[in-house]
Amino acid sequence: MCCTSLELIYVHSIVESVGEGVTELAPGDHVLPVFTGECKECPHCKSAESNMCDLLRINTDRGVMIGDGKSRFSIDGKPIYHFVGTSTFSEYTVMHVGCVAKINPEAPLDKVCVLSCGISTGLGASINVAKPPKGSTVAIFGLGAVGLAAAEGARIAGASRIIGIDLNASRFEEARKFGCTEFVNPKDHSKPVQEVLAEMTNGGVDRSVECTGNVNAMIQAFECVHDGWGVAVLVGVPHKDAEFKTHPMNFLNERTLKGTFFGNFKPRTDLPNVVEMYMRKELEVEKFITHSVPFSEINKAFDLMAKGEGIRCIIRMEN
Ligand SMILES: NC(=O)c1ccc[n+]([C@@H]2O[C@H](COP(=O)([O-])OP(=O)(O)OC[C@H]3O[C@@H](n4cnc5c(N)ncnc54)[C@H](O)[C@@H]3O)[C@@H](O)[C@H]2O)c1
Repeated sequence: MCCTSLELIYVHSIVESVGEGVTELAPGDHVLPVFTGECKECPHCKSAESNMCDLLRINTDRGVMIGDGKSRFSIDGKPIYHFVGTSTFSEYTVMHVGCVAKINPEAPLDKVCVLSCGISTGLGASINVAKPPKGSTVAIFGLGAVGLAAAEGARIAGASRIIGIDLNASRFEEARKFGCTEFVNPKDHSKPVQEVLAEMTNGGVDRSVECTGNVNAMIQAFECVHDGWGVAVLVGVPHKDAEFKTHPMNFLNERTLKGTFFGNFKPRTDLPNVVEMYMRKELEVEKFITHSVPFSEINKAFDLMAKGEGIRCIIRMEN
């Protein structure tokens, strides 16, 4: 049976209690809450190729538990709605068991918590989807947390040239720590960035990963890959009215365009393995964490994000 009514409560990413019928988790388990889920029963979950769970894929509008359509939070008798299935800006929350990944209890929760979203997304976009061959050249569009994680993934996969593209040159120095070897700021060039990259790479890059959310960058990321074998992967979430336009000959000339959600990782099945990559020191998550604030100062974290400062800010739950 699908686990629609199964719930659990966790605090500090530690399970506090489980609902009736939950067998995979027990109080005390260390977990990562994820904004998208894995029911393990639908055609997507059963497919080795998809992580787009029919039941629990991201839904920003639902705001209630799937089982009974009700919220578990309230204030003065009025409901407070859930946020993307996790509602983690609180000491305790209630989540569907399918959105919770059980991880190694030895893993430091104040570090590996960043693997719940953008870092795994960028990493997976490179290692699971773009799959750059060893010695290849990879272009990363957008050097925010997701793009830096994509660069890290390209480095882990063995790419030898990783070209970071961003309109904000202040990102470049930091990006060297994540494997970027060269940089292009489209503002520094009068010609389209696709042409700049083609000149730098003898015809085009082998792989590109777009992590901006800007549709023009998405088109550039596709058109800058080498004909014959180039693969572009879109990660950024575009404006709802955006349209992607390119000449169909770009496809006929054997360029491939892909998109990915959460780096094609299945949250419950794959995320524990990403944590193990960290435990084996194959993936360094500390360098993504530039700030940390107590829960009482959570708005400082939003200010940092709005100003584009730092990479990721940890919100510490303190009593
Ligand atoms: N597909 C998924 O599952 C998934 C998951 C998480 C985040 N995302 C999306 O990934 C994108 C990146 O997230 P982030 O947290 O790293 O964002 P961010 O805002 O921290 O970084 C984006 C970077 O892109 C740069 N940029 C913007 N427009 C550009 C352009 N035209 N050319 C070159 N660089 C440009 C910005 O200067 C910035 O440095 C967002 O759109 C986010 O919504 C997707």
